[in-house]
Amino acid sequence: MRLDKFLSQYTDYSRSQIQQLVKANRVAVNGELIKKADHKLNGGELVMLDNRQIEAFNARYIMLHKPLGYVCANSDSEHPVVLDLLDMARKLDLQIAGRLDIDTTGLVLLTDDGQWNHRITAPKQECTKTYLVTTADPIPDDVIQLFAQGIQLHGEKNLTRPAQLDILSSHTARLQIHEGKYHQVKRMFAATGNRVVQLHRESIGAIQLDPALAPGEYRALTETEIQEAVR
Ligand code: URA
Repeated sequence: MRLDKFLSQYTDYSRSQIQQLVKANRVAVNGELIKKADHKLNGGELVMLDNRQIEAFNARYIMLHKPLGYVCANSDSEHPVVLDLLDMARKLDLQIAGRLDIDTTGLVLLTDDGQWNHRITAPKQECTKTYLVTTADPIPDDVIQLFAQGIQLHGEKNLTRPAQLDILSSHTARLQIHEGKYHQVKRMFAATGNRVVQLHRESIGAIQLDPALAPGEYRALTETEIQEAVR
């Protein structure tokens, strides 16, 4: 494997950052500074970035059913965090692909594969997220059209991307959005004069929350889920 591929797989640096690191003489293989990012590795070499050894590991891909009251962060001074729910080593290496608010439940993805996380969360990929929404007031039919056209959120320059709303009952709907602005779903409903009282994420891209997972439970993603996450 090429050195730059190895580093991009097992660190959070982008390919262009890695080029810079190599140029800056910060990468050594078996004690020798390497000048070329396409340097070939055969496996088993000692790769050092500054004074840190970079080791190959099998990336982990996890789906978690986030319960109410948990924060999507590494640590929090007041509330439990989603990492508290995981019984495994190297928890701090896991990144959360698409955070949920403390009062939102449902699908959260965690991984230590930075590239995969980027593919899931990058705005350009438009990875679809599906939410089940319960509102304080009835949802009028014209909100379907408003969300399909894009809606102006307070403090944002651009309209939201077209979103699909299916009204399920007077106060519940399924919403599909293709971006992940801060508090996006709550702000979209707020812009229509309504308020979200319950929010649950059902899916991210092709990955559906496994109905066998109770709140607080998690499992590894299958190979198919990992491959098809972005569609
Ligand atoms: N939109 C919100 O408003 N909150 C979430 O947790 C997720 C999407």
